[in-house]
Amino acid sequence: MEKFIIRGGKPLKGTVNISGAKNAAVALVAATILCDEPCVLENVPEISDITKCMKILRQMGADVRLTDKNTIYFDTKNIEKPVVPRELAETMRASCYFLGTLLGRFHEAYVPMPGGCNLGDRPIDQHLKAFKALGASDDIINGANYVKADSLIGNQIYFDFVTVGATMNAIFAAVKAKGMTVIENAAKEPHIVDLANFLNSMGADIRGAGTDVIKIRGVDYLKGVTYATIPDQIEAGTYMVAAAATKGDVVINNVIPKHLESISAKLRKCGVHVEENDESVHVWVDAPLQKTSLKTMPHPGFPTDMQPQFSTLLTMADGTSIVTDDIFDNRFRYVAELRKMGADISVDGKVAVIQGVGQLKGAPVSATDLRAGAAMIIAGLAADGITEIDNIHYIERGYESIDTKLKGLGADITRVVKPDNTDIKLSV
Ligand code: EPU
Repeated sequence: MEKFIIRGGKPLKGTVNISGAKNAAVALVAATILCDEPCVLENVPEISDITKCMKILRQMGADVRLTDKNTIYFDTKNIEKPVVPRELAETMRASCYFLGTLLGRFHEAYVPMPGGCNLGDRPIDQHLKAFKALGASDDIINGANYVKADSLIGNQIYFDFVTVGATMNAIFAAVKAKGMTVIENAAKEPHIVDLANFLNSMGADIRGAGTDVIKIRGVDYLKGVTYATIPDQIEAGTYMVAAAATKGDVVINNVIPKHLESISAKLRKCGVHVEENDESVHVWVDAPLQKTSLKTMPHPGFPTDMQPQFSTLLTMADGTSIVTDDIFDNRFRYVAELRKMGADISVDGKVAVIQGVGQLKGAPVSATDLRAGAAMIIAGLAADGITEIDNIHYIERGYESIDTKLKGLGADITRVVKPDNTDIKLSV
C-alpha cells in the first residue's frame, strides 16, 4: 500500500505547471467513440481515471496509444459491441459517459453502474431523461444500465437542476441525432465548453455551451482532429490553496485565470494575494489568514471540487467560517480526518462551522476521496510535524504527479510503500 509522508511547515515557493483537466479529459476520451476517423488528444493528464477510460476503449476493441507524454491517439472504428466491462465501469463516475457516446454511435449501450468518489447517492435520472427525450428507452439488466433507440431525434431537454454529467451525456446523444436538440438549464462548467469545442472542431454544430441553453443540430459525420484539453481548474485551485496554507509564494502556470475567478475571489477575502496574468496566477501571503464563508454552486460559482481544500485552509484562519456544500449528499467525510490534526469543525448536514485554530498538527490520516485526499495533503504541508496519508490511490485519480510537483515547490513529501502496521515516529 502506498502512502505519502509529509514533513509540514515549509512554505511552498516557485513555479508549478498545471496539467490538463481531469473532468474535461474523461469526457473528451469518451467522445472519441463518436469520431468517424482517428483523432489525437493532447494535454491529457496522466491520472488513473484516464488510464481506466483508455482500458475501457481498448477492451471494446479500439486502438488507443500514448504517442507522446500526455498525447493519446484514438481510432475507435473497430468497436463492435457497445458494452462497457463491469470491473472498469464500477470504479469511476465518468464511465457513465459511455452511455451517451455509445448510444450516439450505436443507438444502444450497456454500461454497468458508474462508481467514483463516495459523495452520497449519485443517481443518473437526468441522464436517462435526456436519452428518453431523444427517443431512447432504458432498462436495468443484470445490474447495468441498458439504453436503446431505433433512431435518435432532436428534442427539447429541460434538466430539473444543473448537472454536469447529464449535460455531457445529452450532448453526446444529440450530436449525431436527427434535427435540433435544445438543452435548457444546462451546466456551464469549463469542461462542458471544452467538450463542445472538441466536437465542433470535428464538424459538430453545438452552440451556446457555457450558457444555460445549448443548441445542437445533429450532423452525420465527425472528422478526425488533434485537440488539446483545457488546463485543470481544480488542480490549479488546489495549488493556489496549498500556497496560501503554507504562507508560500507560488506562480501557477498554464491556467485560464477566468476559470479560477471564484477561487481567487475567496482567497482574497482571506487576505491572500492573487495576481492574475495571461496564463498564470501568482499567489502569496504576507499577513495572517482571515475567516470567510462560502457556499458551493455550479459554475461560475465556487466549485464543490474545491470545498475540502478551501475548508482546510479556513481551519488555519482567524475567526469562524461557515461553509455550505449541498451539491452532493455528503462532501464532509474528510472532516473526521482533519479533526485528528487538531481542526475545530462541526458539521450539521450540509453546513460546516470552522473555528480557526491557527496551526494544525501532523497525524496519520486517510484520503476518503479524491478532493478529500488533496485536502489532507494541504493540511500536512501546513501542519507542524509529520503527516502520513493513506489511500492515496484516490488522489491519483485526479492529480498528475502531485508529489513530484510539490517537491518542485520545496515540499518535503515522500511516497512510501508501507505495511499498515508500521510505526511512524510522530513529533508531538
Ligand atoms: N444528480 C442527480 N441526478 C442526475 C445527475 C446528477 O440527482 O441524473 C445530482 C448528483 O447526485 C449531485 C448533483 O446532481 O448531487 C450534481 O451532479 P453532477 O451531475 O453535476 O455531477 P457529476 O457529473 O456526477 C461532475 C464531476 C464531479 C463534480 C461535479 C460537480 C466528473 C467526472 N465529475 O460529477 O467531480 O464534483 O460534476 O461539478 O466530471 C471530482 O472531480 O472530484 C468530482 C467529484
